[in-house]
Amino acid sequence: MAREWTPDSWKSHEARHLPAYADPAALADAVDTLAAYPPLVFAGEARALKADLAEVANGRAFLLQGGDCAESFAEFHPNNIRDTFRVLLQMAVVLTFASKRPVVKVGRMAGQFAKPRSSDTETRDGVTLPSYFGDNVNGIEFEAETRRNDPARMIRAYSQAAATLNLLRAFATGGYANLRQVHQWTLDFMGRSPWAEKFEAMADRIGEALDFMEACGIDPATVPQLQGTSFHTSHEALLLPYEQAMTRRDSLTGDWYDCSAHMLWIGDRTRFEGSAHVEFARGIGNPLGMKCGPSTEPDALLRMLDTLNPAREAGRMTLISRFGHDKVEAGLPALIRAVRREGHPVVWSCDPMHGNVVKSDSGYKTRPFDRILSEVKGFFAVHRAEGSHAGGIHVEMTGQDVTECVGGAVAITDAGLADRYHTHCDPRLNAAQSLELAFLLAEMINLEAGRAQADAA
Ligand code: PEP
Ligand code: CO
Repeated sequence: MAREWTPDSWKSHEARHLPAYADPAALADAVDTLAAYPPLVFAGEARALKADLAEVANGRAFLLQGGDCAESFAEFHPNNIRDTFRVLLQMAVVLTFASKRPVVKVGRMAGQFAKPRSSDTETRDGVTLPSYFGDNVNGIEFEAETRRNDPARMIRAYSQAAATLNLLRAFATGGYANLRQVHQWTLDFMGRSPWAEKFEAMADRIGEALDFMEACGIDPATVPQLQGTSFHTSHEALLLPYEQAMTRRDSLTGDWYDCSAHMLWIGDRTRFEGSAHVEFARGIGNPLGMKCGPSTEPDALLRMLDTLNPAREAGRMTLISRFGHDKVEAGLPALIRAVRREGHPVVWSCDPMHGNVVKSDSGYKTRPFDRILSEVKGFFAVHRAEGSHAGGIHVEMTGQDVTECVGGAVAITDAGLADRYHTHCDPRLNAAQSLELAFLLAEMINLEAGRAQADAA
């Protein structure tokens, strides 16, 4: 029998990567304030996402999860939200069109504020200050006052998440995501990418399909699936005081849900036995993600799955592998075999970002696009060989025309990184690179489905 769980039972476990607050009363105040605020999502929505993810786990759908590495207060703007949302829509259209299967769309949006850091402090020119831990903890400017952990930032993060989610819901269901708009989703600056042209050709074919349906007497205006889309939110459940405050008992089932997002994940650095983050996650009913990589032992992974999903419910667990382009083929098979042997139903998703960070000659932290593609190819190759479903992708991306990852069809060079390097944390794919990745994924998915020959014919 599992030990008793409460929203704050994590406090008696080992918590890594949690900020220390100088003023416990101010922290308690912020948590109390948040606990009295409305939930951002409804438990029923989290269950609907879990049902969609169960389809992915069973090999009948694909998961697309993407957005910022770290959302920031400075970049909070409707155009940023819209642009990331529309690139995700474009990617989803490419994937749906190619795979002929549903694509489950989940944003790293509306709550992705807290970051684990490899070092607690940062030193510049002989001055040492606390590291930046994300905008809901402290500020990015290298000044003592800004780097101070401030619990009141959680309230601002909540407001930003609420406004972001409100706009996302409006876009998803208010007409913007109508398939008839498919041509409008291409961003102006993407004209330079050959993949934008490919997308336009696909959009034409979708338009023709809609015309055909209309001619047959199906009025797209009466088909909800064509009028809008479903879109869910997610973030790393790192800042536990915030997550605890947002955890509520569902009035329909009596179960606890973390109502800060539909899906929450456990990061690579907080996934260990005895972890406060694992303790927190086991008690909430939301679908959960868990990162895994070179440091994941198969037996430890199985014990973790037993803790987090004792009922072996499909859709509950998404394993997000992040090995690195040169390690995925050697490391992933053992995890897949162990999970299958124990009969755990999981979604296998590929994060080709976090194992592929390098320092460029110009001093920027970057991710070579060809390594990202190579990890994706390796991930699909392993699943093909193991006979399991390569179920999803997890990327750090933005709708902006940033220069953070080198490479891609509109080649970003090492020297060009300085042009528009805006991320608050890790380098993100820009809009053109995201679309290019979606076309590669489409090819991989078709290969899995044995459709490559038919398409080439
Ligand atoms: C992240 O997803 O932003 C992250 C920190 O990843 P990981 O936990 O895999 O290092
Ligand atoms: Co990141």
